[in-house]
Amino acid sequence: MNADRILVVGGYGAVGVTVADTLDGWFPGRVVVAGRDEARARALGGVRADVTDPDGFRRTLQELGDVAAVVLCVEPPDSRVARACLERGVHLVDIGATGRLLEGTADLHDLAAGSGATAVLSVGVAPGLTNLLARRAHEAVGGADRIDLTVMLGAGERHGADAVRWTVEGLAEPLAGAPLRTTLPGHGTRTAHPFPFSDQHTLPRTLGVEQVTTRLCLDSKPLTSALFGLRPAARRPAVRRALTASFSRVHLGGDGFAVRADARRGDLHAACAVTGRAQSRFTALVASYVTRELLAGSPAPGVRHIEQLPALAGLPETLAAHGLAVWRLGEAPPA
Ligand SMILES: NC(=O)c1ccc[n+]([C@@H]2O[C@H](COP(=O)([O-])OP(=O)(O)OC[C@H]3O[C@@H](n4cnc5c(N)ncnc54)[C@H](OP(=O)(O)O)[C@@H]3O)[C@@H](O)[C@H]2O)c1
Repeated sequence: MNADRILVVGGYGAVGVTVADTLDGWFPGRVVVAGRDEARARALGGVRADVTDPDGFRRTLQELGDVAAVVLCVEPPDSRVARACLERGVHLVDIGATGRLLEGTADLHDLAAGSGATAVLSVGVAPGLTNLLARRAHEAVGGADRIDLTVMLGAGERHGADAVRWTVEGLAEPLAGAPLRTTLPGHGTRTAHPFPFSDQHTLPRTLGVEQVTTRLCLDSKPLTSALFGLRPAARRPAVRRALTASFSRVHLGGDGFAVRADARRGDLHAACAVTGRAQSRFTALVASYVTRELLAGSPAPGVRHIEQLPALAGLPETLAAHGLAVWRLGEAPPA
């Protein structure tokens, strides 16, 4: 293993702080945190970096000189930061959840393959664990015609500002599809609503499945109804601002989350799920294990989604050591 550094961008945010801590435990002295607040980053031994300024980001990489991997714990507006990493042969882990942005990075596959770098996309809970479970359920039916993903998030968790921004913007996106009632192990039957997680856009290509949908609900049933009842109004910027403010201040409910994948082929049906507490922490753990695989494993260069890395297929079971419960259709729900 070499001694090159790991740049965690957004490294003092809700997800990034656990990524930085976990990687520091595995690779002591090699983690450098970054964000726009120079004083805050420097207090942690880090540097200033802004993902909306790709030229400045490129200079930061040059100045640091020995960066082996960048973990993006904040969503950049386009793929130019990814390009700045991959053209230097720097590995990239991106926890972003916007399909359009991930497709832009996937277009850099040849650049990454040429420079010997690997970028891993669809990293986190959704996308991330959703992708791994989708692949599992797909294989269990021998190749699915259709996959339905359901994500439940805890309304009581203190989600980071960037995650709240993403969720409120997603509410404003016009989406086809009907709500679906699903049983989430340990949480009973829930009504989940179509939501623009990137997994449903990327999995048809990586798994060769014709139809993939992703739906969202909150742990609180009344809040789920209220939130999706506001969907038409959320197209108005003033309503989105009000929703962002209330999500950031009001924390009603718990911090439990669940992810379920249902795959169907004709009459065949397979389903699997995971449940845990604190999605930000599990997103960070997934990002940390992916980064460790890039630095200590031997992934093929290029741009991949998490479900395309065979070494990470057992990640849900690995995360059981951190409190994640794994379930398959036919088993009793986890206690
Ligand atoms: N895949 C998944 O399952 C999953 C799950 C949760 C979250 N996410 C995504 O992860 C991202 C982070 O979520 P979070 O909850 O950790 O948000 P957060 O708490 O707001 O953290 C964002 C971090 O990024 C920094 N940052 C913001 N804008 C930046 C910029 N332009 N350049 C560099 N750094 C910047 C922030 O510090 P400064 O403001 O000081 O710069 C902060 O440290 C979101 O995009 C969210 O959608 C994905």
